[in-house]
Amino acid sequence: MNDWLRRLMPAAPGRLRRAGVLGLNGRNMNVLTAWNPKGLYRLTDDKLVTKELCASCGIATAETYAVVDHPVQVRRLDRRVGGRREFVVKPARGAGGRGVIIVVDRRGEDFVRVGGLTLSLGGLRDHILEILSGLYSIGGRVDRAIIEQRLCAHPALAAVGAGSTPDVRIVLYRQEPVMAMLRLPTVASAGRSNLHRGAMGVGLDLRTGSAVAAVCNGQVVDRHVDTGLPLGGLWVPAWREVLAVARKLAAAIGMGYVGVDIVPDARGAAVVLEANGRPGLTIQIANRRGLLKRLADVDARLTRRASPQPVEWA
Ligand SMILES: Nc1ncnc2c1ncn2[C@@H]1O[C@H](COP(=O)(O)OP(=O)(O)O)[C@@H](O)[C@H]1O
Ligand SMILES: [Mg+2]
Repeated sequence: MNDWLRRLMPAAPGRLRRAGVLGLNGRNMNVLTAWNPKGLYRLTDDKLVTKELCASCGIATAETYAVVDHPVQVRRLDRRVGGRREFVVKPARGAGGRGVIIVVDRRGEDFVRVGGLTLSLGGLRDHILEILSGLYSIGGRVDRAIIEQRLCAHPALAAVGAGSTPDVRIVLYRQEPVMAMLRLPTVASAGRSNLHRGAMGVGLDLRTGSAVAAVCNGQVVDRHVDTGLPLGGLWVPAWREVLAVARKLAAAIGMGYVGVDIVPDARGAAVVLEANGRPGLTIQIANRRGLLKRLADVDARLTRRASPQPVEWA
């Protein structure tokens, strides 16, 4: 845990709020309840539904190679993978990186995962059967498995990506970007950029997309934890496009509080990985800033343009 937050943590929720930090209760009770109608979660909780929505409004996503929705289909798995050396397997209704396997090569009959571990065709079949059973799905419901294109990092992020694919999380409130972080996969996170798996979060200046601070496992860091590369001076390529795509998807989803995850890919495009209707709050540590003031600023700006009653933040 970093100093800034450690000083605040023993504090009562009121003190955290005064420091401008949006807490879990505040997010759930003030923000999600007010701005995210329950019926809209179907657009974010299932990645295949999000992908369809993106396609319908011209937003790029990773190409879907195959969808497995019945156990009998795993018999033809090799055909579905189609001889590809690189791909990603994930649960449609997963979260937090659980059940996501990133394949980067083949060795004989086996698949090589990020980090070098191998997986046999049988192992991949078993993994997909686990996905179908709902082992990784939100709420434990039966699920579908997605086999999709592995996105590769933009050259400007290749070094700091260390063989994996960094992504950018943009949090939007009332469809305005309010906070952003670049997420860097680590050895511990097995190529996934989920902070709870040990990935690094680099807070970003919203105007420029350049790094302002970074966190890994709750600790403030200034270098990549695996490679030692300094993080100062890091910036996100295609920043304007990343913001534009995030706005477009948030508007299409219709939620007032949403996190959009975007990969600035090897060709310079902003490709959506997923949208999250309950984005986590660690982004505030990565930025060393609380969200409350930013939410209040958006309320003030939009209220001037005649809108619903703003939430009382302070
Ligand atoms: N198609 C992909 N190409 C490269 N990396 C990916 C791809 N899909 C997922 N990842 C990596 O795995 C992480 C988790 O995948 P994601 O689709 O966001 O599922 P979850 O909902 O579990 O977070 C991503 O943040 C990213 O780092
Ligand atoms: Mg994710």
